[in-house]
Order: sequence, then structure tokens, then C-alpha cells
Amino acid sequence: MIYSHYSALMAKSMSANRPLPDEGEYEYLLKHLQECEGRALELACGYGRLLLYIMEQGWPIVGTDASPEMMAHCQTLAKEKNLVPELHCQFMQRLELDETFGFIFISDGTFSLIIEDQDIHDLFQRVWEHLKPGGSFPFDFFTYPPTMEFNTPLKRGDWVTAPDGSILVTRKLERYDPETHIRDCLQMHDLYVDGKFVESQAYEDPMRYYDPTVLMDYLAGQGFIDISLGGFLTDAPPEENAAIVSIRCKKPAE
Ligand SMILES: C[S@@+](CC[C@H](N)C(=O)[O-])C[C@H]1O[C@@H](n2cnc3c(N)ncnc32)[C@H](O)[C@@H]1O
Repeated sequence: MIYSHYSALMAKSMSANRPLPDEGEYEYLLKHLQECEGRALELACGYGRLLLYIMEQGWPIVGTDASPEMMAHCQTLAKEKNLVPELHCQFMQRLELDETFGFIFISDGTFSLIIEDQDIHDLFQRVWEHLKPGGSFPFDFFTYPPTMEFNTPLKRGDWVTAPDGSILVTRKLERYDPETHIRDCLQMHDLYVDGKFVESQAYEDPMRYYDPTVLMDYLAGQGFIDISLGGFLTDAPPEENAAIVSIRCKKPAE
């Protein structure tokens, strides 16, 4: 079976590989958290790498993600930290919550998992509806042309030892189409316990590389203001040939 969403083994291997925010990631979000009126919202929060850390620092925050396995893993990790996060299993382009937020963000290039133009429109409209007047919406994404070489197919592999001692092996097959700017990817995750293979899970993980000006035009069309392009985890303009960049914007204050 090929999973249509991030699987349990992906959650386990990703969280073992990368349990905490990267350097500068929390600091970048902090200024928005400090200015945030009401609770913050992280879209596609995954296993809670940022969300749980932000909660531990005392900021009120809600999370959503499309993968039930990721949400379940986030709850398990939260329990270990005595945290009780409010999580909703939803696609970000179908966001539907009974609350507005002072700050909504998408981190770690996850916006690039949105492929269809209609989904971009829907996502920006949903964020608009859930943002308080004056609220901010930063997100980062991969931009084209990709700076990494995609040989067809490019093979990559890595492994990690999980906290329970099991070994998780990750492999990726990737190819990039310069016409569509879409990178197709098959991720495979294998689990070994006591040296014995237990199971394998595969997931198709397409990703789109974006022209930032296209997204900025969409945001302006939705009514967002103060739309600016920055580098990754910085408000400064992106460096030439940056692989990942960010856009920040606001909903006008009433
Ligand atoms: C690379 S992980 C990033 C998780 C988290 N933001 C972080 O920085 O650690 C991508 C996450 O996006 C979720 N995801 C992918 N497409 C989504 C969508 N359309 N709506 C909501 N979540 C989505 C996946 O389930 C996965 O948890």
C-alpha cells in the first residue's frame, strides 16, 4: 500500500531524527508570538516539533495537520512532556475552526506540499477567514529553479535509532519536472527491531517549487497587505539562489 499521507513510521523516524526546532526557528517565530492577539495557529504542525516547544515556552497555540498518524504521534510526545495540545486533523486548504487567531504560520517549507493552484487560492482564503484583523501570516516554501541536482531517479538514504531502540531506514526516489516545477518523490520507511525487519511503509510525497511573485499576487488578490519576501527564518531579503524563501503578510486591522 502507498500511503496518501505521512505514515506512522514517517512520524516515528522524523521525530527521532529531528525532535526540536532548528537553530533560529523559534526565535524567528517569537516576535510574531509576542505580537499575537489571542491564540496562535500552526498549520501542518506534524508531530509537534515546533508546536510542543512553543507550548513549553508558555504560548497558547493550536495545531492542525492532514495526517492522523502524525497527530497521534504528536499526542504521544505531548503526553511524555505533560502537555495537552489542541489538535485538529484537517487539510490546511480546508481549514475549518470556530476561532480566529492573531498569528497563523506554516513552517519548514511545508507550503510546497500544496500542488494545485485551486488549493493555493483555497488555503489563502481559509487563512484570511481564520485570521484576526491585524494578524500576521508568514510561511516558507521552496523556490525554483531548485539548487539541488535531481538526477532521475536520485537515490538518497538515511537511518536513525528511535528512543525505543528500533532502527528506521528512510530512502527517497525523486525526480523534478522543470515544466511543472513539481518534484515527484517516493519515500520509503523500513522498521527493524532487534535486527529483524518488521515492516515497510511507502508514501508519495510530491512537492512544488514556486515563483514567489505568483504567491504574492495571490495574497494581494485575497486582500492581504504588507506582503514581503524574505530569506529562510529571516526578514532580510533572500540570498541569490536561495533554495527556500519566506513570505510574510498581514490582514488589515479594522
Ligand atoms: C515536513 S512535515 C513538517 C511538520 C512541521 N511543520 C515541522 O516543521 O516539523 C509536513 C507535514 O505537513 C502535513 N501536510 C501535508 N500536506 C498537508 C495539507 N495539505 N494540509 C495539512 N497538513 C499537511 C504532513 O502530514 C506533515 O505532518
